[in-house]
Amino acid sequence: MATRCLFTLLTLTFVYSAILAQQTKPCEPCDPSKCPLTSDKECLAGLTLDRCGCCQVCAQRESELCNHPDIPASKQYEACGENLQCKIRADTRGAPREARCECNDQVEMCGSDGKTYRNYCHLMESSRLAKIEQKPLIKVFKRKPCDSAPEITLPPVSVSNKTGSNVFLTCEAAGVPLPVVEWVYTAPNGKQIVYPTDDDRISTLVRGGPNAHVLTSWLQIQSLQNNDQGSYTCVASNALGKVERSCTVSVETSREL
Ligand SMILES: *[C@@H]1O[C@H](CO)[C@@H](O)[C@H](O)[C@H]1NC(C)=O
Repeated sequence: MATRCLFTLLTLTFVYSAILAQQTKPCEPCDPSKCPLTSDKECLAGLTLDRCGCCQVCAQRESELCNHPDIPASKQYEACGENLQCKIRADTRGAPREARCECNDQVEMCGSDGKTYRNYCHLMESSRLAKIEQKPLIKVFKRKPCDSAPEITLPPVSVSNKTGSNVFLTCEAAGVPLPVVEWVYTAPNGKQIVYPTDDDRISTLVRGGPNAHVLTSWLQIQSLQNNDQGSYTCVASNALGKVERSCTVSVETSREL
């Protein structure tokens, strides 16, 4: 058993040093006819020349490791692709420092396919994939997220509380442009009230966040009364549409003697 372990270890060490040697071995005179065929179809970050400046290889993609002059590395990586830059990561607390390819253009943007991309490099990767699948290339439609119909990302939850208590309903809605949120109260008899109103006991509060293109709206009922019972609907709307989700508020009768 021990011999077998040792054998495996030796083999691994051998393979590993062979790989290392391959990566750091000196450049031979360039003979393009010996280059492996690399088509830009396979390379999502485009093509680059290998470290010897001879053969075309796939460039490193966003967030892949790269060689930075300030960080000694035992392994040689290909260069970062187009629109990418090798940057030292600031967030490797305690761990050894490392450098990764980072996109030069970090603006969120809308592609000609109607999808929102985190940055230009993500859009370009999708465009290269589209090319492989023989679909139309993706271009920058606008340097802003694409417009999107509202979506309720966190619907309000039904509550039950005693008369005189305070009740908060929360509704989170996403969309571009940012939706407007209203609350519609429907009484058991069908009568409706749209909040906000000038009522000081039942008020709404709205705040951007917690994420980009998301808004949180709260409906606060102070000193809950029996006639507050019913359904409360969060209605989010923007130019592209309208969506709603409901919950109920019920009042527990206090056991007062
Ligand atoms: C019920 O009311 C009390 C007192 O106002 C409050 O502290 C509590 O959070 C309420 N519970 C719910 C589920 O809203």
